[in-house]
Amino acid sequence: MILDEKINEARAAFEKDAATLPAEQLKTKYLGREGVVRDLFALLKTVPPAEKGAAGQALNALKADLEKRVEELAKSKVAVSSKAAIDLTLPGLAPELGRRHPIYKTWDEIARVFTKLGFDIVYGPEIETEEHNFEALNIPMDHPARDGFDTFYIEAPYLVRSHTSPVQIRTMKSRKPPIRVIAPGKVFRPDKPDAGHSPMFHQIEGLIVGPGITFAHLKGVLDLFAKSMWGEKTNIRFRPSFFPFTEPSAEVDVSCFICGAKGCPVCKGSGWVEILGSGMVHPKVLEKCGIDAEANTGFAFGMGVERITMLKYGIPDIRRFYENHFAFLRQF
Ligand code: PHE
Repeated sequence: MILDEKINEARAAFEKDAATLPAEQLKTKYLGREGVVRDLFALLKTVPPAEKGAAGQALNALKADLEKRVEELAKSKVAVSSKAAIDLTLPGLAPELGRRHPIYKTWDEIARVFTKLGFDIVYGPEIETEEHNFEALNIPMDHPARDGFDTFYIEAPYLVRSHTSPVQIRTMKSRKPPIRVIAPGKVFRPDKPDAGHSPMFHQIEGLIVGPGITFAHLKGVLDLFAKSMWGEKTNIRFRPSFFPFTEPSAEVDVSCFICGAKGCPVCKGSGWVEILGSGMVHPKVLEKCGIDAEANTGFAFGMGVERITMLKYGIPDIRRFYENHFAFLRQF
């Protein structure tokens, strides 16, 4: 039959195109108003009358077949061949990996210094009792020092801890000297958020208790800590201070690691930056925990992780840590 060859050509061309063209385009090209099938129908008038019937049937079959194929291709998810849809040579989509938050990077760094010195890492609960947060630390109900550590109350006697110092109490009650621990964690205070304050922040507490522990040990440990964090040239200095749970107490400054103690905006021209509070554990605190204060002495310190991180990277506002902006977090 005269049109057979053309019909076969059309089928072959369709299959070839089906490998690359989307179903919509196939439909237009083959079944559309100016499509291949229509052109073939137009040829019917050139077919001798004796063959017209067979030719018409063959063309109708072609049309029906192609319509079915187009429908199938449109239905199958990959309407075009995998060759065109998926370019296997393209690089894959890299999943976006998370990373350590800057606060926890500093936390890890500090913990590493102390674990190398043989300190254990211990944790206490964020919800504490008044007894642990205040009384056992020699901060009685009516003591003015309580104001500075005051916090959010849940239901008496529970509150969210205002410092990591209650972990000192928990540790001294559950372990016998010699004790050598650090206690990192979240703490809470009813401070209005501003560039330097946040109602939640992180502290790392340190505690050593044993026979013959002196202020010289405190000084040695903190000097080594400062040099490990900020380099061999770093110095520390102690300023007398007051905490009800240590006696004597001291604030500790490090020589400014930004300007090399020459004076800059970070150290406000003084060459020193305050990093922590410390002191010798008050004998009353030892005794409240059942530790013989005649045979044992100890020292404790507590530092703010946000503050150290801000100083380290020159971050001017504590609120940046909690806003979760990728542009900020990606820098670390
Ligand atoms: N707990 C004190 C604070 O939050 C810091 C401190 C810890 C001071 C241990 C002395 C000893 O400010």
